[in-house]
Amino acid sequence: MTIEWSAEVGEFHLRNDLVSYVGRVLDNRWLGHLYFGPSLAGGKSYGHLQPGDFFGFDNKVGQPVPLEYPSGGSGDYRIPALAIELANGSGVLDLRYNSHRIFHGKPGLPGLPSTYVEVGGEAETLEILAVDDIAEIEVRLLYTIYRDRPVVVRGARITNAGKTPVIIRCAMSASLDLPDADWQILTLSGDWARECHVERHELRPGRQSVSSSRGTSSAQHNPFLALVRPATTEAAGEAYGLSLVYSGNFVAEAEVEPFGTARVRTGINPDGFSWVLGPGEEFVTPEAVLAYSADGLGELSDAYHCLYRDRLAHGSWRDKPRPVVINNWEATYFDFDEPKLLAIAAAAKKMGIELFVLDDGWFGQRNDDTTSLGDWEVNRSKLPGGIESLARGVEELDMRFGIWIEPEMVSRRSKLFAEHSDWTIGIPTRSRTESRNQYVLDMARPEVVDHLFEVVSGILGSAPISYVKWDMNRSITEPFSPGLKAWQQGEFMHRYVLGVYSLYDRLTKAFPGVLFESCASGGGRFDSGMLAFAPQAWTSDDTDAIERLRIQWGTSMVYPLSSISAHVSAVPNHQVGRVTPLATRAAVAFFGVFGYELDPTTLAARERSEISDQVAFYKKWRDLLQRGKFLRLRSPFEGDRNETAWMTVARDRRSAIAAHYVTLSRPNPGPNRLRLRGLDPDASYRVSLWPAARKPEGGPARPMVLGGDELMTAGIVLESSPESAGQGDFRARLYVLEAV
Ligand code: GLA
Repeated sequence: MTIEWSAEVGEFHLRNDLVSYVGRVLDNRWLGHLYFGPSLAGGKSYGHLQPGDFFGFDNKVGQPVPLEYPSGGSGDYRIPALAIELANGSGVLDLRYNSHRIFHGKPGLPGLPSTYVEVGGEAETLEILAVDDIAEIEVRLLYTIYRDRPVVVRGARITNAGKTPVIIRCAMSASLDLPDADWQILTLSGDWARECHVERHELRPGRQSVSSSRGTSSAQHNPFLALVRPATTEAAGEAYGLSLVYSGNFVAEAEVEPFGTARVRTGINPDGFSWVLGPGEEFVTPEAVLAYSADGLGELSDAYHCLYRDRLAHGSWRDKPRPVVINNWEATYFDFDEPKLLAIAAAAKKMGIELFVLDDGWFGQRNDDTTSLGDWEVNRSKLPGGIESLARGVEELDMRFGIWIEPEMVSRRSKLFAEHSDWTIGIPTRSRTESRNQYVLDMARPEVVDHLFEVVSGILGSAPISYVKWDMNRSITEPFSPGLKAWQQGEFMHRYVLGVYSLYDRLTKAFPGVLFESCASGGGRFDSGMLAFAPQAWTSDDTDAIERLRIQWGTSMVYPLSSISAHVSAVPNHQVGRVTPLATRAAVAFFGVFGYELDPTTLAARERSEISDQVAFYKKWRDLLQRGKFLRLRSPFEGDRNETAWMTVARDRRSAIAAHYVTLSRPNPGPNRLRLRGLDPDASYRVSLWPAARKPEGGPARPMVLGGDELMTAGIVLESSPESAGQGDFRARLYVLEAV
């Protein structure tokens, strides 16, 4: 890994064995972009890659010059990275290279989560200073390259070096110009309970984007975009990814301009955003992680998985095996008391479950969702001995205890709202929109963050609590903070997110042993910003196994299995009414951070014994299922969508688990082979089935021993006989591979 800077030709080259990123100072000292892709030789100039004239120079129409951090108004008509309204009302910027520095490691970002290094030698960073002397604006562009990852991390720091305030209208984290537009755009889109569905479309002339303006990042569109060649598959072909480390309003956008080149950008959504930058002040963008794969989407995802798991997530839980949980939400909703909860925990303990989570409904008068958010005092009629007694009761079972909280919210029917209605987001002259019967607290106000720190610290300090599920159950409406001046209101949505980060930062530092799981009505804030603080997230409120195939497939495009919280729930499923076999529900939820969301006291003995087997299986393979290399094999979004398959392989390739799911049973299906990936071609693997297959005469079938080469080329023969098709809908089979 090196960063070369050739003073002679003004060219920089970030490179490791996997990727190169090359740019140069153009003749007019603008920052031009030359290349991002597979690693190129060092010590050479690539200046000849730069196309000819810029549009508009000398009144000639030349070619669209690729740029590093474009601003509008000086001849570049594509989507800008930076737009600033100056004191005279002009929006024209002309940023020219001034200087640069290269250093070991990677600096943190004030107030924002970011990827990091543990030792300086893991990464190198280039900081380029570009200055507009007339506007008196300085922009520091940051580029980090890691030793062995196919990624470049980018961001920008913008300083007002003048004497009058200016208004930032748009400040992207990264912009990337590509020399052709023969790409498809891939996004992760959906809504509540159907998050992260994969959308893939041809790039067309003009702009196409996904974004959020809700205050949260991700139920409708995840802050991620990939460009893939039309022929790119999971296992082959080029793919670029742009992932924004941010939890609020974002944009991820591509533009194809008339010459057929493409620009992509990502950053804070400029719609509704403005930031007043006073003299001497600095604005720091969130960072964007650009990744490249020449070998399909699988490798692109793995690059994000490894980086986000190992160098974005912080804290003591980063590398630890995550516990198997039981959560009481779908088991009881609001209707519980201490004996009922302890009975659930005791039954769960007998099945090997490790941590009990008390969900919504434990505080104030909260017997439904109309009241009490903000009043974080225990409801003594449900829990007479308080959280402490329940937590101790759970601990006596030799389990750990976790708790749900939704700190950013307040119910209209609450003491907090009666005392502090001014802490609520809204415009004083208008009514506030209620959603799920609740309002949002103004996280842009330091006193609100201070209050919540005290309250949550009080709860966490009051009992042996080792896990927190931090929820956020509505979008922001009427964005306005009475605590901000009129001219600052465009800053509000970003200040909200900074407030959330500050609370997370303080709480995770004060309670370093606590495992935080983020949640926003399921996957409404499943983004890499949250993962920095909470290494796992509740993936979706939809716990149906068949729906989860799509949701977890899409989520895994960017986020590691160690972040994808997945629970087995009761049937008929509470979201879609579907009845799926217990084994199938587990076989889907195994591929993530596993748990249960049901009342085990109501289950038949046979089901409890099946769950004991599932928990034992997960614990045996936990490291592989939480930290293995995840490879997607058959997409639930493609073909006739009747099948899904994926697998996880140990980093040393000595073990793997592949899963095959069939949605609807078919009569007389043809032969079906599934090619595996990522194995050692020279190894032999013992293949056993889960649930265990039975011989026709009874007793478990003998495992086969098959070569890694065969499994990856000929494939594994899936169950396909007419008899097996008669097993019914929603079937799953796991193939457990152990090198012999
Ligand atoms: C959200 C979460 C659920 C549950 C409820 C409680 O919807 O996603 O898992 O915690 O809130 O109200």
